[in-house]
Amino acid sequence: MWEWENSGVGEGMKDCSATLSRPPQSTRPPGRVRIETPGSLTWGSLPSMPEIASPSQMYMLRPHLEGLPELALPAGFGLRTYRPGDEAAWARIMNHCIGRDWTTDRCRREMVENPAIPPDSFFFATRGDEPVGTACAQIQPPGQRDLGTIHMVGVAPECRGHGLGTLLTLAVLRWLADQGFRRAQLSTDDWRLPAIRTYLRLGLLPVLFDARHRARWQAVCAQLGWPYRDDWPAAIHPP
Ligand SMILES: CC(C)(COP(=O)(O)OP(=O)(O)OC[C@H]1O[C@@H](n2cnc3c(N)ncnc32)[C@H](O)[C@@H]1OP(=O)(O)O)[C@@H](O)C(=O)NCCC(=O)NCCS
Repeated sequence: MWEWENSGVGEGMKDCSATLSRPPQSTRPPGRVRIETPGSLTWGSLPSMPEIASPSQMYMLRPHLEGLPELALPAGFGLRTYRPGDEAAWARIMNHCIGRDWTTDRCRREMVENPAIPPDSFFFATRGDEPVGTACAQIQPPGQRDLGTIHMVGVAPECRGHGLGTLLTLAVLRWLADQGFRRAQLSTDDWRLPAIRTYLRLGLLPVLFDARHRARWQAVCAQLGWPYRDDWPAAIHPP
């Protein structure tokens, strides 16, 4: 179990925000991307990887894990990995965040006992002893070291806006980098604007699978005031 507490004034977070606030730069030159629709998406040289779960979602990719900022705790919060007994708090957080009807048992079955979710990648932001935010890595198939998924990011409503979403997402990205992963992906929804802003600031790029996804990303970028780029990746696996 890994744990980090901070009761300081959060200077580090200010530095971190300054580093993160630049618009992301695509590493993929125009014209070198492969266009596929999510329904027909395969994983190219990674035949054992699953296909995209839901074409109705939007996907983001960090094509490399270099240049990740240092973790910096917002004042008054801690960061640690999963401890037995966290299941009820995780379910409570998630019932405000993603899906519904999460319970202690469901958390144990679908998260803690899930071989795709390494326990040391299962992060919790804490206030005092209380978990108030969470995110984890999902590795499918377990054992590969190419592409990790950032999974189940959520912060309790009363603790949002303090940088915990950024902290938790960055903790997972840094865990993936430390484990030797080359890239990271996630799926999200058009209406999750705070999450998408957080991911863009951390260097995740929208994946423009097709005209429909391009239009959806243009709409999201317009709402966020974030510059839309035609040279964002058009597929998740390498060209
Ligand atoms: C996404 C979530 C984890 C962010 O948590 P958080 O602790 O508030 O995150 P942060 O404080 O690090 O950053 C939130 C960013 O969203 C921005 N934001 C807040 N409300 C916003 C809105 N309505 N529209 C656009 N951006 C918004 C904030 O300004 C901040 O960006 P900034 O630092 O550049 O100013 C939290 O909102 C949440 O749990 N949402 C519900 C679950 C969810 O959508 N999870 C993601 C699934 S893919």
